[in-house]
Amino acid sequence: MLNGKKVLYSGMQSTGNLTIGNYLGALKNWVNLSDEYECFFMVANEHSITVRQDPAELRKRARALLTLYIAAGIDPEKNCLYYQSHVPAHAELAWILNCYTYMGELSRMTQYKDKSAKHADNINAGLFTYPVLMAADILLFQSDVVPVGIDQKQHLELTRDIAMRFNSIYGDVFTVPEAYIGEVGRRIMSLQEPEKKMSKSDENPNAYILMMDDKDTIIRKFKRAVTDSETCIKYSESKPGVSNLIDIYASCTGKSTAEIEKEFEGKGYGDFKLAVGETVTDVLVPIQQRFADLEKNKDYIDSVIKNNAEKASYFANKTLRKVQKKVGFPELIR
Ligand code: TRP
Repeated sequence: MLNGKKVLYSGMQSTGNLTIGNYLGALKNWVNLSDEYECFFMVANEHSITVRQDPAELRKRARALLTLYIAAGIDPEKNCLYYQSHVPAHAELAWILNCYTYMGELSRMTQYKDKSAKHADNINAGLFTYPVLMAADILLFQSDVVPVGIDQKQHLELTRDIAMRFNSIYGDVFTVPEAYIGEVGRRIMSLQEPEKKMSKSDENPNAYILMMDDKDTIIRKFKRAVTDSETCIKYSESKPGVSNLIDIYASCTGKSTAEIEKEFEGKGYGDFKLAVGETVTDVLVPIQQRFADLEKNKDYIDSVIKNNAEKASYFANKTLRKVQKKVGFPELIR
């Protein structure tokens, strides 16, 4: 608890452009939750170097991501938006927690297995201990709830295990966080292979909609979206393409599946795809405009970054000092 509210913590990596999957599945929920909770939204740039990055790009993308958080509607006066690399306590706590995490636990992480298969020439120790840094992120802020996608759920369970293990040795040091899996927009799938998650690293750009895609691109990609050989707009496991479009439409409009099926009764896929494309455009264009305005306001973004890094450090250091004391590190005599 902080200022009488529960603490909500989440973060995203600053690698590459975000898709509507990232927006509808995460960012949009963050905005909705930001009134109810005391929120920390971090740019996970330390996690990003577990795979090789171009330094200039990484720097640029971290800033773009933080700016996008604001453009999407997160108020940086009320919520703490910051770069992980600006708060050294993350790396320091991660080291300590490494000593309370087992090799066996980390080798069971599916993301580690996937990423080491994908980057077989660079299976570095950071890739292996990635979930420990994530645990440090969350535990530093005594977080109560952590909105994460399904793919990060295993890391959150590990975070809980580490917190409970530490608490059982040293007393109540960490709040044990709960996962928060959003209701709608849970999982946006590829527009080309709707059995697969929508991913910005897909080699076919028609498979995803980027948050920065312009109207024509959005409409064109939806027109090309893979559906099926029927003609009815119905939500069904046997119709993954159409169901995904319904999910996207539902998530953008707040309408239920049943309402959408009714709205498009007797209509063809062409009409439906166009409607989805237009709705997505209506959601994204204002965000893109705010983003462009914010980017021009360099001083403002700089001050947000500076102030929030200080605020985050203050809370993070409180937990870190407590942990250091518990494990037996002497205090610095000033
Ligand atoms: N690993 C998360 C991802 O790639 C990003 C992340 C880092 C995160 N630290 C976090 C998410 C803490 C939630 C809480 O999506």
